[in-house]
Amino acid sequence: MSAGEKPKIGVFGAGWVGLVTGACFAELGHEVVVRDVLPERIAALESGRVPLHEPELPELLERNRERLTFTLEVDDAVSAPIMFVCVGTPPTYSGDADLSAVWTVVDQLPELEERAILVMKSTVPVGTGEKVRAALDARGLAHVGYVSNPEFLSEGSAVRDFMHPDRVVVGAFTEADGAAVTALYEPLETTVVQADVASAEMIKLAANAFLMTRISFINEIANVCEATGADVVKVAEGVGLDHRLGPHFLRAGIGWGGSCFPKDGVALKQLASNSGYHFQLLNAVIEVNELQKRRVIQKLQRHLGSLRGKTVTLLGLAFKPNTDDIREAPSLVLAGRLVAEGAEVRAWDPVADGAVALPRAKICADPLEALEGADAAVLVTEWHQLAELDWREAAKRMRNPLLIDGRNMLDPAELRASGFTYDGIGRAAGLV
Ligand SMILES: NC(=O)c1ccc[n+]([C@@H]2O[C@H](COP(=O)([O-])OP(=O)(O)OC[C@H]3O[C@@H](n4cnc5c(N)ncnc54)[C@H](O)[C@@H]3O)[C@@H](O)[C@H]2O)c1
Repeated sequence: MSAGEKPKIGVFGAGWVGLVTGACFAELGHEVVVRDVLPERIAALESGRVPLHEPELPELLERNRERLTFTLEVDDAVSAPIMFVCVGTPPTYSGDADLSAVWTVVDQLPELEERAILVMKSTVPVGTGEKVRAALDARGLAHVGYVSNPEFLSEGSAVRDFMHPDRVVVGAFTEADGAAVTALYEPLETTVVQADVASAEMIKLAANAFLMTRISFINEIANVCEATGADVVKVAEGVGLDHRLGPHFLRAGIGWGGSCFPKDGVALKQLASNSGYHFQLLNAVIEVNELQKRRVIQKLQRHLGSLRGKTVTLLGLAFKPNTDDIREAPSLVLAGRLVAEGAEVRAWDPVADGAVALPRAKICADPLEALEGADAAVLVTEWHQLAELDWREAAKRMRNPLLIDGRNMLDPAELRASGFTYDGIGRAAGLV
């Protein structure tokens, strides 16, 4: 590589993080090789299809086709001097992060002759970097650097988040490795937090845990609002304007889901307890979230009595809008609880495929079709199509026009004027 030339980048994992990382670095002018182990995923990408729903990503991949290669071969990815690890780290049965894909990447590294840097973007427990460093050294790969560079992107706005990050965290064992990774982000004009590897790993876990804490906090406030006649939407507005607190992640709802919060929360809890510390607050935050998903069932029962034989429509399946990701989505818990109560479940989502995850639900292609003859609807995901839905027509189609607005997305007065019994989260019934 000559001076001024951008280094080639290798990426392990063609999921949300790997594809966004690869596409964005290609956009920044790097040649990028993305390696995955799934032949169908690589074949799709090679033929120009994107195997997941993420705004702006298809355009970015298309625009940078010339600079992007997709491969099943380890050797192609390790031809790059900087290699990002973006493989999944799902939870194990014990709640610890499953690092088997990370270790496969490390173990499959060939005897690299040139100096290279392995950059960890996957979310891993604190201490992983130390272990990988020791494993590389033991294999005679001391010349392969290791850097922790956790990713903070959100699905649904992943490309924007990558290109306009609040900060980039770089945790390195040596200054030179840290500087090499920091240099990659120079075009982004962001703050780079340079840290030791363990602190970089902890920043990611702590940031996620804090966001979860804010959500569980406002959800508990919402529950108290319901019991006392206050409206959590107003409360959150008034609280969030305090500059010490800020407005973000103060929207009450039916709890978080997705591929990150649930697993990262439990992984941090386990990491603490494996280290001999009982992380009380995080335990409560997680428990509140579990209970919050289930409170919807109690609301339905308050309105409908027994749910046996009742038809309940879930509007939205994805854990949040603008993604087709249903990993750990609240919709899955809700559907499971509804089936257990003997209800018939219908579901609609514009992009998420619920057929496999929800075999007992009837999946409909259109929200009005899903509401036909239903006894209740639960708004699960804030899809814009729901804001634009003809709710008057929806009320006419339903046997019983009851809406549990699990995201406080809609205007209660408008819904009531459309003929609905409206019940949100933490909103005093009848007052708003
Ligand atoms: N999805 C998010 O919003 C997000 C945000 C920040 C951080 N993260 C973290 O980033 C990591 C990746 O998350 P994701 O959502 O992109 O996961 P994902 O499940 O969407 O993708 C992971 C990909 O890695 C591939 N893979 C598995 N083993 C491999 C190997 N040995 N070599 C190459 N590829 C391999 C899988 O086939 C899969 O395509 C996780 O640790 C996650 O916690 C995710």
